Amino acid sequence: MASSTPYASLGGAVLSFLIVAADAASPVPAASPKAAASGKAYTLQAACKRTGHYDLCVASLSRDPSSRAARELDAVALARLAVQATQRNASETSTYLSSLATDDVLGDKTPQLQQCLDDCGERYEAAVEQLTDAATAMDAGEFAESEALVASSQAEVKMCQHQCHAVPGHQNILTVRNREVDRLCSIALDITRLIPAPK
Ligand SMILES: *[C@@H]1O[C@H](CO)[C@@H](O)[C@H](O)[C@H]1NC(C)=O
Repeated sequence: MASSTPYASLGGAVLSFLIVAADAASPVPAASPKAAASGKAYTLQAACKRTGHYDLCVASLSRDPSSRAARELDAVALARLAVQATQRNASETSTYLSSLATDDVLGDKTPQLQQCLDDCGERYEAAVEQLTDAATAMDAGEFAESEALVASSQAEVKMCQHQCHAVPGHQNILTVRNREVDRLCSIALDITRLIPAPK
């Protein structure tokens, strides 16, 4: 479903172009993100200023030891950290959703609530997988692909929120968590866009 969004297909098109372009040029070592980055390094704060959620950005990226050790990092390294932080957060919500599925803290679930939890469970599983793939794509220098995967994870989370927000009595059952993952996705996308375009 996510891959049918215009954004993702655009990402795919850009990706194919990048693959062709990379094949034509000298080979880029796949496992070295630094080799793909040209030049500019950012402090964590400078990079986070370029996102729409400065405080959350600084809080989530500074959890990583590598961002604390280095004063400045290139955009690829920072984008990778942002994708990983998003992946971890989405995994937590995915785990939380599986626990709600089996737990009876919610009492007798209405069919609508059950549907919201089942759907979001699947959507989060997909999102976690896409975010894992986004980090892999980042490592391979496939930035457009990584961006498309993060965007489609964000779409999954938005659809989860949209559906559960319509459940009577449980409108905000996932709102805080969805908002957090949504914002982390936006941060990851904003930082990915700091990566210089291929020449
Ligand atoms: C991630 O998700 C949890 C919910 O499990 C939340 O409490 C936490 O603050 C989130 N944020 C980050 C940046 O990890």
